[in-house]
Amino acid sequence: MIVLGIESSCDESAAAVVEDGRTVLSSVVFSQVPLHQPYGGVVPEIASRSHVEKIGGVIRESVVQAFGGLEWGRIDAVAVTYGPGLASSLIVGLSAAKGLALALGKPLIGINHIEAHLYSVFLSPDAPDPRETGRVLGLAVSGGHTCWVDQPKIGDYRIIGQTLDDAAGEAFDKAAKLLGLGYPGGPAIDRVAKTVRSPDAIPFPKGRTKEGNPALGTLRADLCVSFSGLKTALMYYLRNNPPAGEEAVARIAASYQEAIVGALADRTARALELGDYSAVAVGGGVSLNGRLRARLREVTDRAGVRLLLAEPRYCGDNAAMIAGLAGMGAGVREGAMSLDVCPALEAGDRIEL
Ligand code: KG4
Ligand code: ZN
Repeated sequence: MIVLGIESSCDESAAAVVEDGRTVLSSVVFSQVPLHQPYGGVVPEIASRSHVEKIGGVIRESVVQAFGGLEWGRIDAVAVTYGPGLASSLIVGLSAAKGLALALGKPLIGINHIEAHLYSVFLSPDAPDPRETGRVLGLAVSGGHTCWVDQPKIGDYRIIGQTLDDAAGEAFDKAAKLLGLGYPGGPAIDRVAKTVRSPDAIPFPKGRTKEGNPALGTLRADLCVSFSGLKTALMYYLRNNPPAGEEAVARIAASYQEAIVGALADRTARALELGDYSAVAVGGGVSLNGRLRARLREVTDRAGVRLLLAEPRYCGDNAAMIAGLAGMGAGVREGAMSLDVCPALEAGDRIEL
């Protein structure tokens, strides 16, 4: 089965063609980062306008790259992200996908963006078969999301832990702004932190949450994180200790990164103690972080489970993960033509149509 995937949930217009869920025939991503850079964050109005301009060309390009020409007839289904994300961005991709599915007379499949990030690890040729991997602990870490997901099998997801406020990527981006390191902040902090020898020199709060916090709902405190206090701690630290020069900035950035990464590694270790998992699958832009990769490697080695990481090109937003997950039989299939965008969708949510 050959699926054309479309993704427009935030600031990337992307399309990809994937065969049988695993073989990526093409993956085209138009990144809007330079458009949003002057504002230090994604501006929804600019994002949706850019999606409208670019999505058609990106889709055509993905078909040409896959087949060597505009061979629309070889596509068996059209898959698209319907949430979560910016409503005005999601609607561009969803409308394009509906139009295309109608025109081609092929089924439309609605895909959850977070579940797709968790699937992205299976796009590597050396990844195990997702249908034979057993119970997987998913960790989605991006600019908008941070959650731990129990995944007994592909297509079956339940959140067991999450951030109660800022996502990990958001915490990186806000800190980079305060430190004058630019946007997006994660890669900048990752880069300067590598130059620092003692990354835990400054004791920033470790993102802990307390049992009894109403924001936890039914979730356990030892599987959740809170990063808003960390950002405030950084603000106060900078006020009291203005950094003199690049080296001082790097030292602060490294300690700040260590607090985020430490929290993510700690909750992952705890989740592995509580469940019988065969692997940890990590997706989303923050999974590119070198220090996070190293800490998760330690955690999974200690627990004796496999660590599945996405290839760098599939860590950030892309459409191969959308088409891939759809090719595995997941997603909203019956009545998908009447799907609306779901900006606040969470992993495991089921949509009533
Ligand atoms: O998955 P993604 O491309 O988009 C969302 O769905 O949000 O993630 C973007 C986020 C940004 O916050 C960016 O700062 C962060 O991923 N990021 C990183 C790194 N590369 C990207 N964070 C930490 N270290 C990195 N190397
Ligand atoms: Zn994403």
